[in-house]
Amino acid sequence: MNAAMDPSGNENPLEPRIVVLISGTGSNLKALIESTRAPGHPGRIVAVGANRPEAGGLGVAEQAGIETFVIDHTTYKDRASFDAELLRKLEALNPDAIVLAGFMRILTPDFVRHFRGKLINVHPSLLPKYQGLKTHQRALDAGDAVHGTSIHFVTEELDGGPIIAQAEVPVLDNDTPETLAARVKAREHVLYPIILRWFCEGRIALGNDEVLFDGAPIPQVLSLPADAYQ
Ligand code: GAR
Repeated sequence: MNAAMDPSGNENPLEPRIVVLISGTGSNLKALIESTRAPGHPGRIVAVGANRPEAGGLGVAEQAGIETFVIDHTTYKDRASFDAELLRKLEALNPDAIVLAGFMRILTPDFVRHFRGKLINVHPSLLPKYQGLKTHQRALDAGDAVHGTSIHFVTEELDGGPIIAQAEVPVLDNDTPETLAARVKAREHVLYPIILRWFCEGRIALGNDEVLFDGAPIPQVLSLPADAYQ
């Protein structure tokens, strides 16, 4: 892991450097900031980046005193040039973990390969179900009784990288996409910080094409006991 600077300028060479990328409100970012600031957390969020200048999560980061940057995708002629700029910025930040928290951009294969094993995403469905957009509406349309969220390593396949962990929620009769999204996010706010912590501790890693936990391939996707969410 790389060195990270604390606000006083002191270096802790063992502290994993985390960069969070967002596009929206940043409720997951908020949960990640809170958890990484708990005593004994091994990692530090060194910067938060957004592809939209209006992303609400930028304010969350600023309030927490974390460096922010915006790379507005609408000002780039194509995906490759946007990704090249994002890659340059991230390289300068020297991250050990790049955490996508509601980052709504498809990343090019070159970008994903460059940061292989460092890129983690949260996707609001029980993958491999409902890759892509409008996952809550699609779960409702399908009449699913159970929906949820997945945390996975990002590989070249969109929403298709090895799944680290999942959390389920019930779908209720009167659910709308909004109520379902809120129930899913409540799970994400607990699960994502724990997975990031394990990643920073070196317990979770990407193997050849599988997730390693304490050095061994996981026999099944990780999940937390129900009382973890209470
Ligand atoms: C989260 O629910 C996350 O799973 C989803 O966006 C939301 C961001 O919420 N991510 C995706 O859809 C990625 N394809 P937040 O900004 O409040 O954290």
